Amino acid sequence: MLDEKTPTYPPSDAFASTAHIDAATYEEMYAASIEDPEGFWGEHGKRIDWIKPYSIVKNTNFDFGNVSIKWYEDGTLNVAANCIDRHLEARGDQTAIIWEPDDPTEDALHISYRDLHREVCEMANVLKALGVGKGDRVVLYLPMIPEAAYAMLACARIGAIHSIVFAGFSADALGARINGCDAKVVITADGAPRGGRVTNLKDNVNQALLNVIHTCQSLVVRRTGQQVAWRSETDHWLHEMKETVSDDCPAEEIGAEDPLFILYTSGSTGQPKGVVHTSGGYLVYAAMTHQMTFDYHDGDVYWCTADVGWVTGHSYIVYGPLANGGTTVMFEGVPTYPDASRFWQVCEKHKVNQFYTAPTAIRALMGKGKEFVEKSDLSSLKTLGTVGEPINPEAWNWYNEVVGKGTCPIVDTWWQTETGGHLLTPLPGATATKPGSAMTPFFGIKPVVLEPESGKIIDDDPAEGVLCIADSWPAQMRTVWEDHPRFEATYFQQYKGYYFTGDGCRRDEDGHYWITGRVDDVINVSGHRMGTAEVESALVAHEAVSEAAVVGYPHDVKGQGIYAYVTLMSNKEPTDELRKELEVWVRSEIGPIAKPDLIQWAPGLPKTRSGKIMRRILRKIAENDYGSLGDTSTLAEPEVVDNLIENRMNR
Ligand code: WTA
Repeated sequence: MLDEKTPTYPPSDAFASTAHIDAATYEEMYAASIEDPEGFWGEHGKRIDWIKPYSIVKNTNFDFGNVSIKWYEDGTLNVAANCIDRHLEARGDQTAIIWEPDDPTEDALHISYRDLHREVCEMANVLKALGVGKGDRVVLYLPMIPEAAYAMLACARIGAIHSIVFAGFSADALGARINGCDAKVVITADGAPRGGRVTNLKDNVNQALLNVIHTCQSLVVRRTGQQVAWRSETDHWLHEMKETVSDDCPAEEIGAEDPLFILYTSGSTGQPKGVVHTSGGYLVYAAMTHQMTFDYHDGDVYWCTADVGWVTGHSYIVYGPLANGGTTVMFEGVPTYPDASRFWQVCEKHKVNQFYTAPTAIRALMGKGKEFVEKSDLSSLKTLGTVGEPINPEAWNWYNEVVGKGTCPIVDTWWQTETGGHLLTPLPGATATKPGSAMTPFFGIKPVVLEPESGKIIDDDPAEGVLCIADSWPAQMRTVWEDHPRFEATYFQQYKGYYFTGDGCRRDEDGHYWITGRVDDVINVSGHRMGTAEVESALVAHEAVSEAAVVGYPHDVKGQGIYAYVTLMSNKEPTDELRKELEVWVRSEIGPIAKPDLIQWAPGLPKTRSGKIMRRILRKIAENDYGSLGDTSTLAEPEVVDNLIENRMNR
């Protein structure tokens, strides 16, 4: 728990005096948002343009069995028009997107709002020509190129639902997602340059489509110009089709509760779920949090280093910044190519004012030394942000001192794919931050800490337990794609009347929140969510594997690493070659991010007499903390544990 020596970092008076929200305003607005959510969100809904204004603001129910979440339900709007058309008059020539390529010697692009309008209209007309209409699903499997943003907005313009699959996922994972939402079209590129290497995305799409039962066309962006294997009946080059369509496309009138996108994310059981976000409430919340959490002002250059394949890229590269008429940087590359100064060179080159990245990147760059930072002029920076996992104080301090020179507030933003936008975060002009704490709830958010077993609310501070949210907010996910019962069972069944986040947390004596990590079988590898069940099912799909159990363990750079216990078929030998083969296998089943860091051969797994794997014990061994295994008396074969301890991989 926080001791008296824990330093706090208040914003400077100069920062606070020009900020959208200062400390007093935060208190006042937060109280108003909790006392009268309808009044508060009714007012803030007006930050975007509506075709037909709403009269009903909030209609939400968290009761298990009847969960239903609707915001602004009788309003209509178009998300793309909000992100583009409404800015044309005042700032048509302003840069909307700065695109920075993987190779620093290639030219960056400055795409104005007028350019963006034309590109998005053309892409929307191409989609229409391929038969895509309102409510149809389009899968995006793209590098970080401007066409990724065009494609998202083109879908939004015609009311199609996009589902982005991170380009690091394998062909198998892609195929499952194309099938999962019955996509009519998949948009991809010939190749994806990243860190000086090129991934052949088109080949992955071809392979994925072999397992897709329905007809799915592909629309291919020419990025690298490399040779690709062409499927003549169903493949189309974007640049060729663009020649055949008009550069004007009307923005459809879309209901506030019509889906904007599906994004697959990992949970504790089964295969990834299709998280559904809708149009009105999502956009209001993405725009508002982008403006307030980063203290974004007109004319600022904002850079979020995430990939559009994750929710962070949706809300805080594309929808939030563009709804605010901002300038947003899209970066195709990686932090360490050509070397560890790349982030900072890009900050200098484009005079970035707000910079938002993941703790894992900060830790990796910290390890390379501060010389790489000091080569660049970072005087444009005003606000720094982190997302995706808890940040350790050492990394926080380095970010603060070496990158921010002690003058940039750091916002540690806690949120999830499911929440659509930030729920717990400091506000840079308002909050005296504590390294490692996500601090305070955003407006309208009612966090509660519950006793894990009884589910009772812990009112007093300090408190430690599971983090739930007591009432809805506009960007909350609405359902799991075509599986509302799974939505209710995952988030509303265990703690009745609350949204269950899956995270543990403590609230200190000042009422500030500290996320302690997942309380379920989800692990967080370099800020990427991975279900242990997914990795297990990939492993057991290999012919040599009879059984597998996967847990997380602390990893210096990645936050958590993947530790796999593998039991082989009785006729298989545990060799180093087989270990390599299993690593390659998991990469091809899911993607490189799921590759186990450590594989331990396990002649047996610790199970209860009823056959349930005791993961608690496996976690302890993986953490090299086998001295405190707790009660093992219910094990069917206690000697299994001794073998696992003796042969542990992390020591
Ligand atoms: C974790 C990413 C600590 C958390 C936006 C959450 C964090 C999961 C933070 C969601 C943070 C995210 N501090 N932990 N600031 N931000 N997490 O869906 O465990 O990819 O439940 O969304 O990441 O991951 P997701």
